[in-house]
Amino acid sequence: MRHVTRRQFSGGLTALAGASALHPMTAKASNPVDLIARPGSVQLAPASYPETPIWGYDGDVPGPVIRAVQGTRITRRFVNRLAQPSSVHWHGIRIANAMDGVAGLTQPAVAPDDSFLYDFTVPDAGTYWYHPHNRSWEQMARGLYGALIVEEPQDGPEVDADEVLLIDDWRLNDDAQIAGGFGSMMDWAHAGRIGNWITVNGAAAWSRPTPRHARMRLRLVNTANARIFSLQSQGLEGWVIALDGMPLEVPRPLVKLTLAPAQRADLIVDVTAKEGAEAFLISQERDGGYALASFPVTGAARTVRLERPDALPGNPVTPLGPLDGARQATLIMEGGAMGGMRGDMMDGRMTGMREMAAVGKVWAFNGMADMPETPLVEAKRGETVRITLRNETAWPHAMHLHGNHFRQIGADGSRGPLRDTLLMDRNETAEIAFVADNPGDWLLHCHMLEHSAGGMMTWLRVS
Ligand code: C2O
Ligand code: CU
Repeated sequence: MRHVTRRQFSGGLTALAGASALHPMTAKASNPVDLIARPGSVQLAPASYPETPIWGYDGDVPGPVIRAVQGTRITRRFVNRLAQPSSVHWHGIRIANAMDGVAGLTQPAVAPDDSFLYDFTVPDAGTYWYHPHNRSWEQMARGLYGALIVEEPQDGPEVDADEVLLIDDWRLNDDAQIAGGFGSMMDWAHAGRIGNWITVNGAAAWSRPTPRHARMRLRLVNTANARIFSLQSQGLEGWVIALDGMPLEVPRPLVKLTLAPAQRADLIVDVTAKEGAEAFLISQERDGGYALASFPVTGAARTVRLERPDALPGNPVTPLGPLDGARQATLIMEGGAMGGMRGDMMDGRMTGMREMAAVGKVWAFNGMADMPETPLVEAKRGETVRITLRNETAWPHAMHLHGNHFRQIGADGSRGPLRDTLLMDRNETAEIAFVADNPGDWLLHCHMLEHSAGGMMTWLRVS
């Protein structure tokens, strides 16, 4: 088995890093690598079915894994070969605002056959990903996403293998073609577009042979539009070492793991299944367990398990100080089926529920079913921001903040791990806080893509 070291990944990008760090925007990135969104065809279903026409980065699902060492630059020329405008958002990266890829907020959408140069530094090590931020509810459901892995410069954990697992669900018809119905109000007002077919890295049955007692780092990413995964392992024992890219101060034993849309988890697991047996990563579905990934065990890497791993080195996120004096805001989440939305502000005027549903706005933040003209919060750079989120809907939501990682503040003042996406249950109230040290306009939205398109979207300004 291959021993993974960061050296394998650092090559070209490190070379680019020093070149013109002072003027990243204007620097001539000589021959940036292209990242092309285009139609393709992939065997998503078992071999007895036809291939599925998809939209993918470089025509594939998932798109290429983009790797860089922490602190270095990533340069990609995004080329749009789709028939509709698109953009690339680098999810979870504390990025320069102009590179955040939000069509309509940080840049215009990239028209068909047009291109856009993304050029940014990656401040934090960990597991991130990229996806379109224009008509995401269709473009991502058709396969546009990929992993962005930022390597620890030197203190990465000792592992025998490092696997990226992008977990997705698809809505396929009987011929394994992507089912239509994008924009269905039924989906938008309920849980979102939930699929009927689950893949890992675009494969129906993702599998890697592994020796017993091997130690693996598994980087899980939920790339589904709306499905919440409930994960377990069998024949693999270990720890959660990072969430949403950010290392946990103390690794948590892996028992059950909930992964909402856009969330990531880094695991360190040891293969404890016997030789000749199989280990599994399992998705707990309503009708039982479903193997997402399987690891047939052949041979042994060592005679006993390795010691408990250390925590990963922390990322340079500004520590959260005392919260008194923080700038405060409240976000009330409303709407959806069974949610009793009264009618909301849309285009600045009061609109009834029926009229709103007719234009696809069925959710609202603070009574606004659209991107509001003014930000939810306007903070000065360096200020602490504290937001109370109240889910008054009958549905769970995966609330994602761009450009910043936050901590959940418990009712008792406890502080949760750094995250960029928070799963909120129906009727739940949560509080998040962060130091707003990244200037720009940052989206805050539900990552259930039909919900954000349906109105669950607002933004923050850090000046
Ligand atoms: Cu993963 Cu607003 O995005
Ligand atoms: Cu939602």
